[in-house]
Amino acid sequence: MKKIMKNFTCVNDIENLQNAVKEAIDVKKNPFAWDTLGKNKTMLLVFFDSSLRTRLSTQKAAMNLGMNVIVLDINHGAWKLETERGVVMDGDKTEHILEAIPVMGSYCDIIGVRSFARFESREYDYNETILNQFIKYSGKPVVSMEAATRHPLQSFADLITIEEHKKTAKPKVVLTWAPHPRALPQAVPNSFAEWMNATDYDFVITHPEGYELAPEFVGKAKVEYNQRKAFEGADFIYAKNWSAYAGDSYGKILSKDRAWTVDTEKMALTNNAYFMHCLPVRRNMIVTDDVIESPQSIVILEAANRVVSAQTVIKRMLEAM
Ligand code: CP
Repeated sequence: MKKIMKNFTCVNDIENLQNAVKEAIDVKKNPFAWDTLGKNKTMLLVFFDSSLRTRLSTQKAAMNLGMNVIVLDINHGAWKLETERGVVMDGDKTEHILEAIPVMGSYCDIIGVRSFARFESREYDYNETILNQFIKYSGKPVVSMEAATRHPLQSFADLITIEEHKKTAKPKVVLTWAPHPRALPQAVPNSFAEWMNATDYDFVITHPEGYELAPEFVGKAKVEYNQRKAFEGADFIYAKNWSAYAGDSYGKILSKDRAWTVDTEKMALTNNAYFMHCLPVRRNMIVTDDVIESPQSIVILEAANRVVSAQTVIKRMLEAM
């Protein structure tokens, strides 16, 4: 029996990954087979941060299920929101999130929320303060469209993509850090690690010293500081930048070393691995033009599977209503 999906924020919200992937493949084959499931239901997508893929794929997924969709960009047209209790609101914030969230909940049946790490405090980010306020106060099922610590719709799409392309039952999957000019959150690598650790793949994480992810996300993964060694025999290379997690370095850039850029010479060490990245990607920082344009690059298919992961999740929520 399927677990009733109240919220979707992490891998634990999907009880049986294999069944979920099978269901996702069915959804992909027949995207309009459930086009009346969401009739007269409304999906509200709330963005505190920018997006291309998540914005479009989640709308498309909800529309495939027959839902109405509303999109709200908090920073473009909405009132500026205060998020802390106890603040005297005599500044530029017009509305408190504790009124805004239940109001938003009253206009829809499911809410998607995107709210990145702010890097002001690791505790605030890792407590998922914004996402949890939506879960607590909206009164509606909440889908994380990337929160401070995880990006589960992306990870689910990544898993579907690997399952579609793998040539062995237990592929070697390598998550590699790569350089970037700006400090990025750990949400994508955390989440990818969490989902890979829920499979029986041979999963390796490689990064420069100082870029260790939180232990609860590293889990049973092998950590290899030598990127070339990690690439040897890999079936999938998943590149991503992230900023430091540890202690006082939290949210900081420790290196922009382009020796970590994924290039053809390093890909030659692999078992003709597929190249993956969640996008958007900085070419010739994270990955060279040659690699991302090569036949082994599956980044576009991976992005296309964002519709499939979102539709599978929203379908499960609608079925539970
Ligand atoms: N991968 C991903 O979430 O892309 P966007 O930030 O464009 O939504």
